[in-house]
Amino acid sequence: MQAIDLAVIGGTGVYRLAELEDIESHVVETRFGLPSGPVRVGRLEGRRVAFLARHGEGHSVPPHLINYRANLAALQDLGVRRVLALNTVGGITVACGPRVLACPDQLIDYTWGRVSTLCEGEPWASAGGEVLHVDFGEPYTRSLRAAVVDAAAHAGVELLDGGCYGATQGPRLETRAEIARLRRDGCDLVGMTGMPEAGLARELGLDYACLAIVANWAAGAGPDPDEVITLQDVLDNVAAASAGLPALLRAL
Ligand code: HPA
Repeated sequence: MQAIDLAVIGGTGVYRLAELEDIESHVVETRFGLPSGPVRVGRLEGRRVAFLARHGEGHSVPPHLINYRANLAALQDLGVRRVLALNTVGGITVACGPRVLACPDQLIDYTWGRVSTLCEGEPWASAGGEVLHVDFGEPYTRSLRAAVVDAAAHAGVELLDGGCYGATQGPRLETRAEIARLRRDGCDLVGMTGMPEAGLARELGLDYACLAIVANWAAGAGPDPDEVITLQDVLDNVAAASAGLPALLRAL
């Protein structure tokens, strides 16, 4: 069987990849338990591509309860080595307004209380508990980021190359003061699912890059500081910003 060339993890508003053909579904029980749902493996431009909806296909799993370890292990168990994470985010800095697509190159982790490493619980404890201290200075895989940026250029899809992703706990959105702090810290984007996923991918030895889809101005970051963020705005903007995704994925 041909190897799987790429896995895509879909975030809020992206629950399937309509362009996949000949789809097989895999329900994978991993050593970390069950992932958020079945992994759909199909064909795109003659390559095998896997897709997993991070929150489940019915968006039933909130960011702090996602079994990130099982999601990544399920993909790896199917033979995946490269993961493109789609993350729906709020925009903080001026270039990151709603409907922008960005491929960040840095992140800051503000999440807490999540299982964020392989070095915790089972099967790590029974296996002797070797402690991993993976290098994470560059949290996204350089070669995969470069391939995403090239693919966007090839496909004529506008993509912001770089930026810092701030990963917050959710599921509530942030206060204006929290976003002001993230801005001072150097964050351009804010989302709830960027970590621990990126760190776990590094521990598992997977290539990993993030394609952030800006759904809204983060609290107080846009031209109207009193703007209230609604789920409908988020979904509408994700749908509009995702228009270029099929072409980008084909090129990738
Ligand atoms: N904050 C955090 N996560 C998000 C946002 C936001 O404003 N929009 C979409 N995901």
